[in-house]
Amino acid sequence: MICTVGLICVDIVSFMPEYPTEDSDHRCAEQTWERGGNASNSATVLACIGVPVECLGTLADDKLLKFLQDEMDSFGIKHDNCPIIPCGNGPMSVVVCAKDTGSRTIIHAKGNLPEITLSDIKKLNLKNYTWMHFEGRNELELPKIMQFVKEHNNEESFTRTNLSDVPNYKNTTLPVSLEVELHIENLDKMLPLADVVLVGKDYAKLQGATNGSEAAELMSKRVLPGTVVICPWGDQGASYCVTSVDPKKTDIITQPVYLCENVVDSLGAGDTFNATVIYCLSKGYDVRTSVDYACKVASLKLQIRGLKGLR
Ligand code: FRU
Repeated sequence: MICTVGLICVDIVSFMPEYPTEDSDHRCAEQTWERGGNASNSATVLACIGVPVECLGTLADDKLLKFLQDEMDSFGIKHDNCPIIPCGNGPMSVVVCAKDTGSRTIIHAKGNLPEITLSDIKKLNLKNYTWMHFEGRNELELPKIMQFVKEHNNEESFTRTNLSDVPNYKNTTLPVSLEVELHIENLDKMLPLADVVLVGKDYAKLQGATNGSEAAELMSKRVLPGTVVICPWGDQGASYCVTSVDPKKTDIITQPVYLCENVVDSLGAGDTFNATVIYCLSKGYDVRTSVDYACKVASLKLQIRGLKGLR
């Protein structure tokens, strides 16, 4: 089973012909309530692909709890390890999807829920999982959690063959992927503990990268040899590398996207890409095949509303 750890929230999504002007009163073509959050969206995509999947994030004991739980049940996503916080105020996003540009504008309210802690992770039997995916959003606990998973791997006679060209995820009992979407503290404590790093465009831009290839190169210097670094860059494709012991030997490759003329809904396209990469790598596919397939599925997602149609 693959476990995705991170945000589970409610998205109120309005589909508009174009992005509205400020201080105006609009009608939209359709408005839906969805279960969102990167970890939760990636779990949905994995469930659509047909993989056993668990999503782990904190949930508020409020009137939207049942909606989120029923939603996960309808996809067969396991969620019984999610801590339910009494008197919590759950996270929520208001999203505007504009038909003319294909943009999605997200206004997110964090609410007041705590993040998943190491003690929540210690309650899991890590032997039940084949892959752990972490959203890089929990700067205090995530380094400890990732260290704990690493120690589990050591106990499971995990070997890192940093001196060969075999990516670490292939030699790890329980591979770990980390999504870096935003700037967070302690990232440099987490990066060496990840086998696969998925770098978001916004974060990469903050680091000074102007394209996916530069982003992959910058990140490759911050991870251990044998780490897979992947950076999707919208319609410019996705760049990736497997870091080598000798930085001069780290080849960065860019996979072009599968362009689609009519973008219907781009909300969650990045989460779809990430989920598909994780699925492919966890099945033992090489990085090139995995990134290629993830670009295909992300393009498919852009052409449908929501994620259900990926089933
Ligand atoms: C999409 C998404 C939405 C959520 C927002 C949080 O990637 O996960 O579902 O509202 O991002 O940042």
